[in-house]
Amino acid sequence: MSPLNGGQRTEAVETTAWTPGAACPRFAEVTALVLFGATGDLTRRKLMPAIYSLMADGLLPCGLPILSVGRRVAAREQLLEEFHEAAATRSRRKPLDEALWAAMAEGIHYVRGELDDSATYAAVKEKLEQLDSQAPAPMNRLFYLAVPPHFFRPVIDNLSASGLSGQSFGRHGWPRIVVEKPFGSDLESARELNRQLQMLFSEKQIYRMDHYLGKETVQNLLVLRFANAIFEPLWNHRYISNVQITISETVGLEGRGQYFDRSGMLRDVVQNHMFELLALTAMEPPVSMDADAVRDEKTKVLRSLRPLTEADVAQRTVRARYDAGEVEGQQVPAYLQEPGVAPESQTETYAALRLEVDNWRWAGVPFLLRAGKRLKSRATEIVVRFRPAPHLVFEGQERSIEPNALVLRIQPNEGVSLCFAAKEPGPGLHIQPVPLEFHFADAFKIEPPDAYERLILDSLLGDGTLFARADSIEQSWSLMMPILEAWQAGASPLATYPAGSWGPPEAKALIEPTGDQWQEPGRCLWAAEPES
Ligand code: BG6
Repeated sequence: MSPLNGGQRTEAVETTAWTPGAACPRFAEVTALVLFGATGDLTRRKLMPAIYSLMADGLLPCGLPILSVGRRVAAREQLLEEFHEAAATRSRRKPLDEALWAAMAEGIHYVRGELDDSATYAAVKEKLEQLDSQAPAPMNRLFYLAVPPHFFRPVIDNLSASGLSGQSFGRHGWPRIVVEKPFGSDLESARELNRQLQMLFSEKQIYRMDHYLGKETVQNLLVLRFANAIFEPLWNHRYISNVQITISETVGLEGRGQYFDRSGMLRDVVQNHMFELLALTAMEPPVSMDADAVRDEKTKVLRSLRPLTEADVAQRTVRARYDAGEVEGQQVPAYLQEPGVAPESQTETYAALRLEVDNWRWAGVPFLLRAGKRLKSRATEIVVRFRPAPHLVFEGQERSIEPNALVLRIQPNEGVSLCFAAKEPGPGLHIQPVPLEFHFADAFKIEPPDAYERLILDSLLGDGTLFARADSIEQSWSLMMPILEAWQAGASPLATYPAGSWGPPEAKALIEPTGDQWQEPGRCLWAAEPES
C-alpha cells in the first residue's frame, strides 16, 4: 500500500527506495503540493531537499505535482535550477540522482505572482483544474504556507475567495493546509489566525508546523518514556527534583534581524519549541498514539502550568541580550550592532523561566527553561535531575557526588546519558560522576531524516500527531502573555551577557532556590564556569 493512500506508517516506510535507473514507484492517490513561498529561503534550505530525499527513499511519487507560487524568480527554468542546487547540496540523499531529479522536475510547475493579488489565485486554480482533470484519481490539494506571517491572511482570504480551499473543488479531492511558524505574535493574533483557518478547514485539515516535533530525538522522547518500563515509576515528584530544558544556540540572527527584533527569544523559541519539549517530558501516557490522544495529554500539561503573576515574573524569569564576545573562536558583534536591530531595542536574546506544573505527578518540581542565542556551544537538552541519595555513607565525598541525572540530548551528539556516581580506581575512595551513554549514530548507523521530511510526509498522509493543535497553541500563548506584559512594564530588567558565555549571571539566581545548579550541556557535570 502506498504512503499516500491512507496506508499505515509502517507500510509507508517499507516502500522500496528509488534506485538509479528504476521506474518511479506508483501511488494510488494523487496529491498536489501547492507551495506558497516557493522562491523563499525556507523552500530552498529545507523543503526541496526534504522532498527530494523522500522521493529517493520511495516515500513520495517522483512526479509529485508541485505547484510553486512565488514572485522573486522570473521563470520556471530558473526556479528549477535553484531547486536542483538545493536538492544536490542540502538533501540527505547525496549524490543527487539526475534521473530521479528529471522525474521530479517534470512535476514542478510555477505560477509567478503576488500573494495578495487575486490574479495569482486564478492562475493557480486554472493549473490545478488542469492537473486534476488529467490525474488518474481526484486530486487532493496540500497548501503549504512557507511565507512570512503577514502573508497568512492574504493567502487564506484568496484561497477562500477563489474557491481553491472548497471541499467541492475539481473532482472533490481533499484540501489541507500547512502553516509555518510563527503562529501569531500573541494570544489575540493566534486566536484570530485559528479563527480564519477554521472558517475554511476542519481541525484535522490544519497542520501547524513546529519543526522540533519532526526531530527524531524529540519523537524518541515518547518511546523512551512509554516503551520502557524502568523510567515511569521514577517519573514523578517523589524521585525527580527538577527538570532543566536548555536550547543553547551559537548562532546570532542569521540575517533575520528585523523579524527577530520584533519577536525575541520568548516568542521565537520558548512559546513553541520549548513548550513542546516540556509537554512531552511531563505528559501522562496517552491511551494510544492517535494524534488527538497524544495532543490531549500535551495540552493537559500546558493547562497545568501555573500562570505567572507580575510578582512571579520578577522572581521567576530572566531576560537578557548579548554583548560583543567570542563564539567558537570568532569575534561577534553585540546584539545592538546586528543589522536590522533598532538602536533602542529592548528585545531579549536569552530567556530563562522557572515554572511549576500543578498536577499530582509534578507538584513541587520546578521546570527550569533557558534558551539563548550566541551562547558558548550549541546544545538542546533535557536534564531530568533525580533527588539525592537519602543518606550518604561516603564521608568526605559529599561534594563530589552529584544527584543522578538522565540527560536527553536532542541535538547535537543525539542520544541519552544516565549520569551516576562511580568509584575512581585506586586505593582511596574518590567518587566521580560518570555517564552511561547511548548515541543514536553508533546504535543505528544511519543519517536520521531531517525534521521536515517527517513533517511533510505526515501532512500528506494526514497524520497530525506531530503538529500543534489550536487549543495547545492558544494555551501556550496565554501562558506567555503575563510574562510579555510584565516585561513590557519593566519587571525583570534586561540583563546582558557576553557572546560565547552560558548566559547572564541572573540565571544562576533563578535556579538557586531549587538547591540545584544548571547542568553543563553535553556533560554529566554541573556548569563549571560562572555564568558570565
Ligand atoms: C526557529 C527559530 O524556529 O528555530 C530560530 O525561529 C532558531 O531562531 C531555530 O534558531 C532553532 O532550530 P534548530 O532546529 O536549529 O534547533
